[in-house]
Amino acid sequence: MCHCLQSSRALSEWRDSGRYAMKMFPSHPILWSSLLVLFALQIEAEADISDVCQDTMSSDDIDVLSTLVKEHHVEIENIHDTNLTCLLYPTNILNCSWSFNTLHQDTQLFVNISICDGNKSVQSPDLSSEEKVGSRSLALHDHKMSLLILHFNFTLHGNWTVYASKYDLNMLEVLSPPQNISASIKDGGLLVTWGSPHSRADNDPFCFEYQLDMGDQETPKEFSDQLSYREPKVDPSSTYRVTMRTRKSNQCVEFSQWSEWSHAVTVEQSKLNNLVIVSISLGIPMILLAVLLLLRHQRYCFCLPLNN
Ligand SMILES: *[C@@H]1O[C@H](CO)[C@@H](O)[C@H](O)[C@H]1NC(C)=O
Ligand SMILES: *[C@@H]1O[C@H](CO)[C@@H](O)[C@H](O)[C@H]1NC(C)=O
Ligand SMILES: *[C@@H]1O[C@H](CO)[C@@H](O)[C@H](O)[C@H]1NC(C)=O
Ligand SMILES: *[C@@H]1O[C@H](CO)[C@@H](O)[C@H](O)[C@H]1NC(C)=O
Ligand SMILES: *[C@@H]1O[C@H](CO)[C@@H](O)[C@H](O)[C@H]1NC(C)=O
Ligand SMILES: *[C@@H]1O[C@H](CO)[C@@H](O)[C@H](O)[C@H]1NC(C)=O
Ligand SMILES: *[C@@H]1O[C@H](CO)[C@@H](O)[C@H](O)[C@H]1NC(C)=O
Repeated sequence: MCHCLQSSRALSEWRDSGRYAMKMFPSHPILWSSLLVLFALQIEAEADISDVCQDTMSSDDIDVLSTLVKEHHVEIENIHDTNLTCLLYPTNILNCSWSFNTLHQDTQLFVNISICDGNKSVQSPDLSSEEKVGSRSLALHDHKMSLLILHFNFTLHGNWTVYASKYDLNMLEVLSPPQNISASIKDGGLLVTWGSPHSRADNDPFCFEYQLDMGDQETPKEFSDQLSYREPKVDPSSTYRVTMRTRKSNQCVEFSQWSEWSHAVTVEQSKLNNLVIVSISLGIPMILLAVLLLLRHQRYCFCLPLNN
């Protein structure tokens, strides 16, 4: 307990000193790119950051704490080159994966993942790793668990640099595909409707965007803030396989990964025609057969009196 408070204070001092706090632009919640650590001058530093839940560190910040100060920086080359990704799946599984395989071969990496449950951080040795390329996952069972804290400690020749960051779990959510999709032919057009996705936090309609694939070889159509779409012209002979996926729009979340594709809803228009064809091809021979049998029967009846 004491240790935690002390660490927390120490960290605040570090931060207040302004030299080690870094504000990354409020970009992708959790995608760091190319952390490039330049090792240089060494400075004494006794701070420890083992419990950040009690700390006021804001989400989307990365705090850097290091024995090395001068010439030390984190370089963001391209925000889409992801070395670290954490996603919270609809099954409530949180999965973080990272890849720092271009580090100096003597660099040791210590990764710690923890979750804030109120003011307490929940840590587990299972969520620690020393792999430069690895992943860890965790089943969340409690909605009070709302923050994710990551520690990456890069140590080279006794000099270390720790990156600590805190993320709002709602920002990492991957949605379930849209539910209740229905598709039907109406007035020569294809009408598709779907239900609004369920999300941990943002439930405003404008927070969701959708992709609709009609199985017609065309690029999926994209919409946001709507729960139906009408394709005006449909080819009467084709069968449509409608699938959809969703994600949060960038009005609500900086970066959101697409959900899985939904199950396909199939619209067969030629169903009726097929039915007609089947009934004709089966029905006509049946009728002919019946007529033939009737005629034969009648001739037999006519023949009887003649024999007498
Ligand atoms: C980082 O790792 C090194 C080597 O294990 C350790 O000495 C140092 O205390 C760690 N730093 C923090 C802040 O945990
Ligand atoms: C977590 O993600 C990594 C990388 O995508 C993957 O290899 C791993 O199987 C995932 N783990 C779980 C439990 O889903
Ligand atoms: C981060 O990822 C990019 C692309 O995946 C890679 O080129 C780069 O070397 C990685 N950085 C580290 C430190 O491993
Ligand atoms: C967390 O800590 C702050 C200050 O230490 C306190 O005001 C707040 O009530 C605590 N919250 C919980 C859920 O314990
Ligand atoms: C990570 O956690 C392990 C135990 O779970 C602890 O020994 C280690 O010091 C932690 N490292 C950091 C950087 O917090
Ligand atoms: C830190 O790095 C410098 C330069 O690479 C090296 O001279 C020094 O020995 C390292 N510090 C420790 C404690 O090993
Ligand atoms: C889907 O339909 C079922 C039954 O009609 C309904 O209970 C459920 O709320 C709907 N879900 C959505 C997301 O619209």
